[in-house]
Amino acid sequence: MSKKIRIDKLLAHMGLGTRSEIKKAVKFGKVTLAGKVIKDSGIIVDQDTSEVAFEGVPVIYRDVVYFMLNKPRGVISATEDGRERTVIDLLESQDRLREPFPVGRLDKDTVGLLLLTNDGQLAHELLSPRKHVAKTYEAIVQGNVGETDKEQFSIGVTLDDGYVTLPAVLEIIGQEEREDGTFSSISLTIMEGKFHQVKRMFEAVGKTVVYLKRVSMGPLALDESLPEGSYRELTLEEVELLRAHKRK
Ligand code: URA
Repeated sequence: MSKKIRIDKLLAHMGLGTRSEIKKAVKFGKVTLAGKVIKDSGIIVDQDTSEVAFEGVPVIYRDVVYFMLNKPRGVISATEDGRERTVIDLLESQDRLREPFPVGRLDKDTVGLLLLTNDGQLAHELLSPRKHVAKTYEAIVQGNVGETDKEQFSIGVTLDDGYVTLPAVLEIIGQEEREDGTFSSISLTIMEGKFHQVKRMFEAVGKTVVYLKRVSMGPLALDESLPEGSYRELTLEEVELLRAHKRK
């Protein structure tokens, strides 16, 4: 069934700018409908059949979706798996139909922010090693994390395969003595995403991560009101933040 939509909403949905940027673009005659320049950014079009073009380039409507999931333990960051439950299994069936996939991976036992989308281009940009998208994690680490680790992480540590990490920001939140030793609460921001990176960085300094949660990725912060295992669509503001970040 075809769907009616305001032209500025359609263009914003397709990532061509914010609603106010699009309003300006319309004013400057950059948007055409069936080959004719339009003057009204509130004009209603059919998302599937109207011939809309932006700066002369046809705009093909796609149903892009962005979900923020608070990933629980015990599910894997994949779209399908013969044996294990995946993050896609946590979605309602109508959301699965839109074929979102996870942007990057969190380990099976890692919790927290995972973006799911069917926007391949945005996912690609967020994962590109060239873009150095910051990811912040909170963790509980077995061992006494201290100033030396902070300095080490700020320079870069050598992982088990010889790779030297980019500078990372380690903050020590607290320390707790338990029967089985000292445990440190920390936050760590890294600008890359090597396999098991956070766990391997602590292994490199002789410590073990026992709990790991991602709290942000680029400009997107985990909505702490989302219980583990729940998800919601990103707000328009969040989508715009991600898109602006991508353009950087
Ligand atoms: N680093 C890890 O070690 N595990 C994750 O899931 C994410 C980052």
